[in-house]
Amino acid sequence: MDKEYLLAPGPTPVPPEVLLAMAGPIIHHRAPIYEQILEEVREGLKYLFQTKNEVLIFASSGTGAMEGTVTNTLCAGDRALVIEGGKFGERWTGICKAFGVNARTISVPWGQSVKPGAIAQALEQDPGVKAVFIQATETSTGALFPIREIGAIVSRYPDTLMVVDGISHLGAQELPLDDWNLDVVVCGSQKALMLPPGLAFAGLSDKAWRFVEKSTLPKYYFNFKKELKNIMKNQSAYTPAISLILGLAQSLKMIRKEGLENIFARHARLARATRAAMKAIGLALYAPEVSANSMTAVIAPSGIDGQRVVKILREKHHLTIAGGQDQAKGKIFRLAHLGFVNDFDVIMGVSAVEMTLKELGYDFELGRGVKAAMEVFMEKI
Ligand SMILES: Cc1ncc(COP(=O)(O)O)c(C=O)c1O
Repeated sequence: MDKEYLLAPGPTPVPPEVLLAMAGPIIHHRAPIYEQILEEVREGLKYLFQTKNEVLIFASSGTGAMEGTVTNTLCAGDRALVIEGGKFGERWTGICKAFGVNARTISVPWGQSVKPGAIAQALEQDPGVKAVFIQATETSTGALFPIREIGAIVSRYPDTLMVVDGISHLGAQELPLDDWNLDVVVCGSQKALMLPPGLAFAGLSDKAWRFVEKSTLPKYYFNFKKELKNIMKNQSAYTPAISLILGLAQSLKMIRKEGLENIFARHARLARATRAAMKAIGLALYAPEVSANSMTAVIAPSGIDGQRVVKILREKHHLTIAGGQDQAKGKIFRLAHLGFVNDFDVIMGVSAVEMTLKELGYDFELGRGVKAAMEVFMEKI
């Protein structure tokens, strides 16, 4: 029997209730029943993003909301600041370049975080910067960025937006849009929202909506003003991904029921157990000072290729995790605990990693990682 397990930092496992919600007959999106569902979804998204404003929904992967944010808030030739500490920071730079936005980058070594002072200094030098682009969690390294502190800095500049890619972070760890002075937060369905890929979200502050009024970059499908007008009527400009919206209604209900505080505490506990397990078998973390709670990036033992770990886990143990990308390729593996994941998923993941490393010749006492994880889980019992 080939039972498959998924502990990747996206896509993530989808709960049976959500799968069932998506398996029903297609309803029509211009019918009252759809509008009723969308009304609930709008409230659920405001709760998740912790904002009083509307959250826009698009049928695309998360990158669509990233692109839409650039094209709906900025003008050609605008100057922007991008914090680049991994693969997804580079994506902001790429999008800015594609649309003629002048992006200056603050490079952060992979596995590290940015110092808020660096952003304060860059804005003092050039207060004409129209937007600061950053990740809340840089998925390629597992590093967390100090969004709250940077949000406070950027909020002092009336002509600068604080734009956060929360794709692998929102719904796993704190990222309150309104309270932290964030201007745009984007997200995707296939992470903490416990859905398949295919939906992108963008939440905007009042300040960001003022930028939208002035933005002149070309846009068509990702037209924030048009979508805002539509969502206020429980509609969308174009045919929505109806089945995914039905799944979203269900996942948002589950998020409400568990409560954001409990969800954040669960992710913190899963992360603590995973980190303890890896340390107990003598492995080091890739972002030791700033490990995010949605995933744990682990440095592969010397002489063992991280890609081999991922391959054996998938082919022999039917567990899919993620390897390293670009400069981290072969050096690390990333074990996620994001979304619909509980204590025993982590125990399973850690045990599969231990068995794989043993098979690859790494010398350690089998079971020490699992024991360390169990001890963390038993602290509360
Ligand atoms: C932090 C971050 N940003 C952006 C993306 C890109 O999202 P998508 O692949 O849904 O376009 C991802 C996906 O892994 C991510 O983790």
